[in-house]
Amino acid sequence: MLVIFGASGDLTARKLVPALFNLFLADQLAENFVVLGASRSDMTDTDFRNRTVYESKYLKDKIKDISKERLEQFTSQFYYEDLGGAYDNSYEKLNSRVEALKEKHQTGDNVIYYLSTPPALFETIAQKLAESKMNDQSNGWKRVIVEKPFGYSLETAKNLNAGLQKYFEEQQIYRIDHYLGKETVQNLLVTRFANSIFEPLWNRNYIHHVEITNAESGGVEKRGGYYDSSGALRDMFQNHLMQIVSLIVMEPPISEAPEDIRNEKVKAIKSIRIMKDEETLRDHTIRAQYMPSVVDGKSLKGYRQEEGVAEDSTTETYAAIKFFVDNWRWHDVPFYVRTAKRMPTKVTEVVIHFKTPHHQLFRGERKDHKDNKLIIRIQPDEGILIKFGVKVPGQGFMVERANLDFYYSDLGETKVMQAYERLLLDAMQGDATLYARADEVEAAWEFVDPILEYWKNGKDVRMYGYASGVWGPENADELIEGIGYWRSPGPNLTDDPGFCVIC
Ligand code: BG6
Repeated sequence: MLVIFGASGDLTARKLVPALFNLFLADQLAENFVVLGASRSDMTDTDFRNRTVYESKYLKDKIKDISKERLEQFTSQFYYEDLGGAYDNSYEKLNSRVEALKEKHQTGDNVIYYLSTPPALFETIAQKLAESKMNDQSNGWKRVIVEKPFGYSLETAKNLNAGLQKYFEEQQIYRIDHYLGKETVQNLLVTRFANSIFEPLWNRNYIHHVEITNAESGGVEKRGGYYDSSGALRDMFQNHLMQIVSLIVMEPPISEAPEDIRNEKVKAIKSIRIMKDEETLRDHTIRAQYMPSVVDGKSLKGYRQEEGVAEDSTTETYAAIKFFVDNWRWHDVPFYVRTAKRMPTKVTEVVIHFKTPHHQLFRGERKDHKDNKLIIRIQPDEGILIKFGVKVPGQGFMVERANLDFYYSDLGETKVMQAYERLLLDAMQGDATLYARADEVEAAWEFVDPILEYWKNGKDVRMYGYASGVWGPENADELIEGIGYWRSPGPNLTDDPGFCVIC
């Protein structure tokens, strides 16, 4: 049984129910599987079914293709329980409902509680569940999945962890990070550890620098209220991007067991050098906000004009951070990571820039064509691209970069699961590999906290502006030592730098 707290919220309809629906169509859900929605809204089972399935804009296209009976088979296992206006009321009524549904559908005693609520409610919900003995594992497991944001700072994350751990063991707590559910993010592990051609080069001897871009063409849309008290660093960097970084930085785990992988990821995050002094923080971080502009004939609002955003807001919609990793493998290799809204296109990719050959034999190479690159495209146009030098046919030894590429789409019929499908299924099966552990989340905050503190209270901290639809503020290139510019990826993996779509 899956009990969803915050069931009347957007995430339930937008992500959770569509993921469950896909799992149902793929016969991945047990026949006696039950979903019990719970929240403060006054709704009946029928209202809940209508809202999340029959009238859902997120399922509209999907449900029209399946039979009425099959759809009913899915929705007949959906129920709703009104918590009576507050999450801190007693859960005795909820407990009775759970017991009745267990009986009716013979679900057994394994239950997942999905906390799709603001984090301020996590501890309250955990406490109330415990008071009604709903965390009792004597006849079956109980697991809690919590949504982001997991904390607002190191201190709040620690408090959240401590609050949940009062009532549930760490092994029962699943902190979701939907980037870990992406097939291409998981493939980082396979690319590194299932090949003998990359790993020997995966270190300071061969890698010049690592660049990670996470760009979105959209703005903050209707989430201005939430975003304004969060910003790019909290919203994307502390969680999704630090997870990607950990998979690039980590040492080989001793096995594929969840704890072995998670131990290495934590070690990786802990080895990132924390920036403490103002000078480093000033030189290694850039924050910016998008400004109004006209893109493709359409006027786009600036961040400060968005609904729910303060007129004098200093919340960043662009963050670029340079950092180093203090260990044997990565000593002196700079990492450049940026994340932003209102960029020219939506793309997430990792670029490993290899060092140029120690001895430059061929003079005819273009300056920007001297290094090999491995580009791991996380989205869209998922795949891997290797850029390497080939001889230009004809006289002499002119060298050009050629592309060696692999696209996930070439795998044809393989169905790639969406992040939430994979993660829900993993939690049902008790596999926490793709969930963040308490120490992992705290280690990530430890790195991010001083940057946030500097941006808030530091001397001479700048907030740059960039027109919506460009690759961030002009000075962002200054962050990159040596080559002095970011790759500007297009929507297609093999588009050359410089090419991009203004959408
Ligand atoms: C969410 C952030 O976690 O990730 C959003 O809160 C962001 O601001 C989203 O838009 C991006 O996810 P994806 O999967 O579309 O890259």
